[in-house]
Amino acid sequence: MNILVTGGAGFIGTHTLIELYKAGHTAVVIDNLSNSNPVALQRVAEIIGISQIPFCKVDIRDREGLEKVFAEHKFDACIHFAGLKAVGESVEKPWEYYENNIGGTLVLVDVMRKHGCKNIIFSSSATIYGDPVEIPITENCPKGQCTNPYGWTKSMLEQVLMDIQKADPEWNVVLLRYFNPVGAHQSGRIGENPNGIPNNLMPYITQVAVGKRTELGVFGNDYPTPDGTGVRDYIHVCDLAAAHVAALKCFAVERLEVKGETEEASHLNIYNVGTGNGYSVLDMVKAFVRVNGVNVPYSIKPRRAGDIATCYCNPAKAKAELGWEARYGIDDMVRDSWRWQKQNPDGYPED
Ligand code: NAD
Ligand code: UD1
Repeated sequence: MNILVTGGAGFIGTHTLIELYKAGHTAVVIDNLSNSNPVALQRVAEIIGISQIPFCKVDIRDREGLEKVFAEHKFDACIHFAGLKAVGESVEKPWEYYENNIGGTLVLVDVMRKHGCKNIIFSSSATIYGDPVEIPITENCPKGQCTNPYGWTKSMLEQVLMDIQKADPEWNVVLLRYFNPVGAHQSGRIGENPNGIPNNLMPYITQVAVGKRTELGVFGNDYPTPDGTGVRDYIHVCDLAAAHVAALKCFAVERLEVKGETEEASHLNIYNVGTGNGYSVLDMVKAFVRVNGVNVPYSIKPRRAGDIATCYCNPAKAKAELGWEARYGIDDMVRDSWRWQKQNPDGYPED
């Protein structure tokens, strides 16, 4: 298939491009580079062994720019990563988050339907479950209250896409609810490159290990978890990338015909993408130190507002229906995260 990858220059997008090409697909990337660097795409091309990844610097809110891309290429499906994702920033700048993430997706989907491309995989998040009513979380767990505008953009966009699909069953919508992506490609050439102080645990750990920050603050050790620190379902980004390729089979005509469910259900697919294992903050720190042989000083800090105690999924549905399951474990995750950070202490060089 030929896939439009929005936000393809970012962390998850770059890793997904590699899996797409490995599986024999081709891709065109659009990205406004607001949180990424074109060097990442050069490195992806090197890893795949092609001269370059087709790339258009286009903002998904720019209708004319999108029209041009659709006029030049024919797409079988879109994998839609483009969006702003910093939780804290979204609290400071809610309008910017709603306008970029929701406004942008509305323009994208409108241009897609005009050009007869009605297959979309959307990057959703475990955050839409709020404080989940069941652990492990299945896809039947009701959506919850998000604690920040970023989370609401994901929750609202799920609803938008479901409503669009319901009104026009030609749409095939896949909502992938990612748990906590970490790790990096085994080459150490691409990885997560956060701006400023990292919000997320793994990039913070790697920046402490490489000497850019003095110590990790562990946000709370009084949660009702085995060691008192927060428990999450960390997933290697290469596994997450592979889940997108597996999800493309939702668009196969035969599958839509034989799924044997209602018309609506067969065209709307929701999957948790995690390993099903919960690890605490201290589990992650200890694994990182043990596998990589580096020191990660830490101290216990107060809980972070909006955090929940425990979040991990039951990934059985993705295995049963997509034939996908995570292959990498915690040791792979911490080893590959460290290789990327060690080889690129300052992230990507300027283009
Ligand atoms: P990322 O910031 O590395 O990648 C997102 C890309 O989208 C960036 O390259 C950015 O420049 C681009 N972008 C943003 N707004 C755009 C716009 N208006 N037009 C065109 N391009 C635009 O983030 P990521 O970690 O790769 O995440 C990809 C997607 O997955 C995002 O939608 C994110 O919210 C979602 N997600 C990420 C995580 C995570 O922990 N990384 C977890 C759950 C969901
Ligand atoms: C966070 C976001 C979530 C988003 C996800 C994307 C919040 C409240 N939630 O999830 O909306 O979808 O990132 O990846 O921000 N921790 C520390 N010290 C740190 C950083 C984190 O102890 O410096 C702890 C946290 O308290 C948590 C765990 O590490 O228990 C994981 O945190 P993080 O990587 O930020 O992910 P989430 O909070 O699960």
